[in-house]
Amino acid sequence: MSEKNYEIEVLYSEEELEARISELGRQISEAYRGRSIHMICILKGGVFFMTELSKHIDESIPVTMDFMSVSSYGNDLQSSGVVKIIKDLDQSIAGRDVLVVEDIIDSGRTLHYLLHMLKDRQPASLALCTLLDKPSRREKEVKVDYTGFEIEDLFVLGYGLDYEQKYRNLPYIGAVKFI
Ligand code: IMP
Ligand code: MG
Repeated sequence: MSEKNYEIEVLYSEEELEARISELGRQISEAYRGRSIHMICILKGGVFFMTELSKHIDESIPVTMDFMSVSSYGNDLQSSGVVKIIKDLDQSIAGRDVLVVEDIIDSGRTLHYLLHMLKDRQPASLALCTLLDKPSRREKEVKVDYTGFEIEDLFVLGYGLDYEQKYRNLPYIGAVKFI
């Protein structure tokens, strides 16, 4: 087996993530008071975040969930901006208050495309919540409504995010340091 040429440094601990996500849950509960929330998780990275976030939405707000899996055409390092739907939503979003839950926004290409596509399906409202945002990397404009943490231009993993499909199970967000 080849030697690992990287180390993982903890960026946000499990406790820090849970504290921030519970704040986001409170903020979202305030914004949606008297309405419902139809949460859409972008697989696979968004799974840990969406489940934790949904636990912090006030019980008085009806929450439903659906899942979508997309892949972007292009190489692994850079998304092309054209999104291929691997798994579409099970339910219609027409007339619903939709909250898209994503792990991280990098160039913005994926979400820029996806949000336009979802808007065409005529939801009553469409908002975006991301756990992490790398604004310095943005190439396509994306309106982000709720952000967990803004981060530098780092490659991160854990809490749903992968590095070559591994490390999604880590309970913290780590930054990859190449050595
Ligand atoms: P975008 O289209 O460039 O915004 O790409 C966003 C997608 O790239 C995210 O949903 C992630 O799947 C992936 N991604 C971007 N940055 C990272 C990272 O630092 N770690 C793991 N995945 C990342
Ligand atoms: Mg993703």
